[in-house]
Amino acid sequence: ASASPQKYQNFLQCLSEHSSKSYPISKVVYTPINSSYSSVLDFSIRNLLFSKPETPKPLLIITPSHVSHIQAAVICSKSHGLQIRTRSGGHDFEGLSYVAYRPFIVVDLINLRSVKVEVENNTAWVESGATLGELYYRIGEKSRTLAFPAGVCPTVGIGGHFSGGGYGLMLRKFGLAADNVIDAYLVDANGKVLDKESMGEDLFWAIRGGGGGSFGIVVAWKIKLVPVPETVTICSTDRNLEEDAIKLIHRWQYVGNKLDENIYLGIILTGGNASTQAGITNPTARFFSLFLGRADELVTTLSTIFPELGLIKQDCVEASWVESTLIIPIGVQPIETLEPLLNRTLTTLDSTKIKSDYITEPIPVAAIKDIWQRLKTQDIETSQLVFVPYGGRMSQISESETPFSHRARYLFKIGYVVGWKDQSLKAKKRHISWLREVYEYMAPFVSKSPRAAYTNYRDLDIGSNNKYGKTSYKRASVWGLKYFGNNFDRLVYVKTKVDPYDFFRHEQSIPTL
Ligand code: FDA
Repeated sequence: ASASPQKYQNFLQCLSEHSSKSYPISKVVYTPINSSYSSVLDFSIRNLLFSKPETPKPLLIITPSHVSHIQAAVICSKSHGLQIRTRSGGHDFEGLSYVAYRPFIVVDLINLRSVKVEVENNTAWVESGATLGELYYRIGEKSRTLAFPAGVCPTVGIGGHFSGGGYGLMLRKFGLAADNVIDAYLVDANGKVLDKESMGEDLFWAIRGGGGGSFGIVVAWKIKLVPVPETVTICSTDRNLEEDAIKLIHRWQYVGNKLDENIYLGIILTGGNASTQAGITNPTARFFSLFLGRADELVTTLSTIFPELGLIKQDCVEASWVESTLIIPIGVQPIETLEPLLNRTLTTLDSTKIKSDYITEPIPVAAIKDIWQRLKTQDIETSQLVFVPYGGRMSQISESETPFSHRARYLFKIGYVVGWKDQSLKAKKRHISWLREVYEYMAPFVSKSPRAAYTNYRDLDIGSNNKYGKTSYKRASVWGLKYFGNNFDRLVYVKTKVDPYDFFRHEQSIPTL
């Protein structure tokens, strides 16, 4: 990261000319010579793969505390030929919110994270720099019977998560986070602030699932809160005896997506040597449930519909919904305080790589056996296959309602993840190759033409734009059709209309025509 002192001076001058004098922008600008530059940059890096000395670094980081700082960043980056990477929570699996291969700055929204809950109308305004944990905490402060259907990891940022859809354990009842957005403020490629009305139907449609970093910088979102009972139930039960687990996984495929929409019952298959060292035998199949109701009812229902699972009340805890958002990431146990929801710091940081698939027909037993064998590999630190049941509300929303097109046609989704701490090149190659081989192996059993994928599980293996110049529709459609199906064309149309010079750009941003 370097530019001549004169260039920096000109850029800083431009920033202060275009931002509010009441909120001096100089206080939130970090150049590489600023002693806080590295700590500000590193704070929201969630993947060690993109935190290396050789990783390209921004010329400057801005952490706006006022919307005019974002407007100035857009106007000045444009006039100085710089790219912008927007970062909210920094969880992008390919590091696209803070790494670029052309001169760039990072606009990090960490200071714009207020959450205003209006219990009277069941709505909230949440700024993009807030995390899911902060949102859940603030809802819980005001009400124990209102909730929001978004992801399970409390440190995930609102900005990227909502932009790409955002699912959690209430998706079968209420759909995705993006399905529940009712207004938004966005700074567009001209530095103008727009709301739902002024941005128009097309752009408002595009920002609710069309992926982050393509259409502008979303400053805040108005969301519809959803009703939940005072007590919900979280259950977890592990199976690691091969025969039993494989039979149950196979059977689950016929059950998980047909259950009452108040029940989420998913599976996490874990392999790798990290937990073996802690005395846990892998692979393990964890059947995990969130039920919007009491434990007795869930246990009774599952004992009729899925008796093979043998779920018992001792596998479950009852809690308020907001408590459940904390219990889910830490495991089924009662909790004493909700404060950890506000913690933005990860306890451990790994290198990670993710892939995703959508399933239309149950996977045969023989294939599940093969996956189980692959999970036994001791060369891998942590591997997980997460099976997310669809059906319910996900089947009722039409494929074109939002850019997220993966609806009624799918039984479930699989997320494949590997994580490792060993920073050697050999370890990186080993883990990524393992993941790619599993993905390759799965091809016959998953959706085809195109092989669908989830945009928030960013994966550049499935195709990427030209890093250095204009990207053709044809090139971008290789990955675009996988993420957005038939909605990709409308996204390209909207992009061409609102950002014809392709200012907001990255390796998987929507191209212009
Ligand atoms: P980050 O800040 O890295 O941004 C991601 C992308 O959005 C980048 O392209 C960025 O430029 C853009 N962007 C960010 N803020 C923007 C803004 N304000 N306006 C416009 N563009 C913006 N997903 C899920 O659906 N359910 C889940 O339960 C989980 N769980 C989960 C756990 C963990 C540990 C990780 C690492 C990831 C997940 N995810 C997930 C995936 C997650 O939803 C996805 O990575 C989001 O894009 C992360 O949003 P952040 O704001 O944190 O990312």
